[in-house]
Amino acid sequence: MSKTVENTLLQRRSIRRYERDAISADDMQFIHDAIRNTPTSYNGQQFTVIDIDDPETKERIYEITGQKQIKTCNHFLVFCADYNKISQIARAKGVESIPFAGTVDGLIVGVIDASLAMMSALTAAESRGLGTCCVGYTRTVAPARLSELLGLPEGVCIVCGLTIGIPREQPDMKPKQGESLLIHHNGYRQDDMLRELMEYDREVTLFNESRTGTKSDNDWARHITDYYREGENYHMGDALRERGFLTHD
Ligand SMILES: Cc1cc2nc3c(=O)[nH]c(=O)nc-3n(C[C@H](O)[C@H](O)[C@H](O)COP(=O)(O)O)c2cc1C
Repeated sequence: MSKTVENTLLQRRSIRRYERDAISADDMQFIHDAIRNTPTSYNGQQFTVIDIDDPETKERIYEITGQKQIKTCNHFLVFCADYNKISQIARAKGVESIPFAGTVDGLIVGVIDASLAMMSALTAAESRGLGTCCVGYTRTVAPARLSELLGLPEGVCIVCGLTIGIPREQPDMKPKQGESLLIHHNGYRQDDMLRELMEYDREVTLFNESRTGTKSDNDWARHITDYYREGENYHMGDALRERGFLTHD
């Protein structure tokens, strides 16, 4: 049974615990169809999705990333930016190959296409009552090891993972920035947003202190900048260059 569009979009929250039951073939087919019909730059479809339901492979990715939801989900989808397919056919047809993948915009295009495909899959899954969680650690923790495990060729890099399964939890929905902070009309807001940002920061702190399940004293500003600090150690540039991305401007 499908949920309404409103419920699918407005009641969504990340689900990290799943039942053992399998997702139906019909639901998986719907998710694959939604992925295929994702809008992409130039209709170039600069992405590939690796659908993993093999428990051993999920276990190995869990061991590498430390993200438990990968182990317990029914399907783990890995969304990749992909220039291997267009390179192959261009070579075969004798079309002069342009090293677009190596440019900054080439990377951005691949990341946008793969991210939109992930959102298509996520929305399709949620609309069928399934639970999902994006897993960015799939991209950052060990890009070389994961690329090797998945057999990624040159010109293909991991953008993000998505766990899908039958929900075994219904966590509280996290507070989000108010509409006035997120949506600016006819240009970027020129007035002072700091008061609203401080209010949101306080709302997040209160949520974390009182939420169902694991509580914390995390605020918004420090918690998010801690993630950015962690990100400084990823050295994504080197990992991407090894895969044929970011080789020139
Ligand atoms: C690109 C991306 C990467 C993410 N990576 C992770 C991750 O590695 N592990 C995790 O538990 N959640 C991850 N998340 C989920 C976010 O933590 C979650 O979306 C956010 O806290 C908001 O909560 P909500 O999805 O319940 O609204 C990721 C989300 C996105 C969009």
